Amino acid sequence: MRDYRQDFDFNDPSFAEGYLEILSDLRENCPVARSNAGEGYWVVTRYDDVARVSREWETFSSAWPGEAGVGPGGFIINRPEGIEPMLPIEMDPPRHREWRATLNPHFTLAQIRPLEEQIKTISHEIVDGFIDQGTCEFVREFGAPFAERIMSEAILNLPAADMPHLRDAITRAIFGTVLPDGSREFDPAGFTDVYEYAYDHIKSSRASDLHHGDVVSAILDMTIDDGPPVTDEERARVLYTLIFAGLDTTTSTIAGTIKYLAENPELHAQLLSSPGDHPEFIEEAIRLFNPGVCMARYATKDTEIAGQPIKKGDQVAFFHVSANHDPAEFGDPALDLERSSNRHLALGFGVHRCLGNHQARLSLTVGVSVLLERLGSLKITAPDEVEIATNQRRQILSLPLSFVSLRDETKQ
Ligand code: HEM
Repeated sequence: MRDYRQDFDFNDPSFAEGYLEILSDLRENCPVARSNAGEGYWVVTRYDDVARVSREWETFSSAWPGEAGVGPGGFIINRPEGIEPMLPIEMDPPRHREWRATLNPHFTLAQIRPLEEQIKTISHEIVDGFIDQGTCEFVREFGAPFAERIMSEAILNLPAADMPHLRDAITRAIFGTVLPDGSREFDPAGFTDVYEYAYDHIKSSRASDLHHGDVVSAILDMTIDDGPPVTDEERARVLYTLIFAGLDTTTSTIAGTIKYLAENPELHAQLLSSPGDHPEFIEEAIRLFNPGVCMARYATKDTEIAGQPIKKGDQVAFFHVSANHDPAEFGDPALDLERSSNRHLALGFGVHRCLGNHQARLSLTVGVSVLLERLGSLKITAPDEVEIATNQRRQILSLPLSFVSLRDETKQ
């Protein structure tokens, strides 16, 4: 068994099996562990330290390879060659601030809340497509099209027909290459596919009628007063990041939520008995079932975390999944609808706090409420076929499910 305190590796298949126990041991006994994988990195596991790395952008830089003053740069651990920078997440202030100021107005609560009816319609239409079967592969038949249609129809105004290709490229990018020991590695070609799509879209959109007042038109119009002009490469890097950020996150979180309900029929029954939204449940679902394992930064100066010296240029991975299970913040970390405070870090913290946080919450609230209304008696039909891929993300790739149609049941 690997010594995770001194030789951490999220690519080791034993991490996928026992990640919660491994991270719990690290929080208690070795809050900043060491990984020797590739270039090597620090493993930050306690809630307070994860929050600090997220907050102190002057000390822990996210700037992209090529622009960073330290290290190779960016948030990807042992980044393979050829991955385009992802913006604005791989930027530090002040340039990061300029991009957020351009994007933020399109993702405020006031801007997102009116999408509720559209998201509800999308959810019902997708369920209509498989409800008569009594079974589905939930990720392919609900989770993926759900996230794709929200992003393409409600947020980015991209042609719906382009989305399956993008999803396929994203899955290849994040979980693409399976190594001989069974672990997975990022596939740069998947990143390039999405970037090239975004670049072509930026170029062709100037001549098209597709974008009026939406976030893509804001990206097209972006200028900076005191600085180098914004290039089309940068615009494409922003659009490609939005495509990446909005799809697998929502898909995997809703799949994890439904998996949990299938495994916990009493909770499912409890939610069914009180129709309407369930904000406490959704917040707990985001805390526990989101696919983020960790992100990374580079130290811009010598510092320390929990007594561990960190040298300028070291890569520091901070584990959201560990922070979100830290008893020091959450007591018993199990799902708890009565939780009095839920300061989870699932949607990030500090300057890079999730741009899509209102969209994520609304999508999950509406999607889960439609699924509760329409699908009863959830069962995982083939537990052996539930596929979960783990590295810097932990993504549900396949979830075979059976259910009864609740509308049919009430008609009888
Ligand atoms: C359940 C769903 C989601 C989860 C769990 C999630 C999680 C996160 C986290 C943890 C970060 C911070 C990363 C860091 O500090 O390095 C982040 C940033 C970001 N998220 Fe999300 N996200 C979700 C949905 C979305 C959606 C729907 C969008 C839509 C566009 C989105 C767009 C972004 C962007 C652009 C950033 C970078 C922000 C910046 O650097 O300023 N996310 N997200």
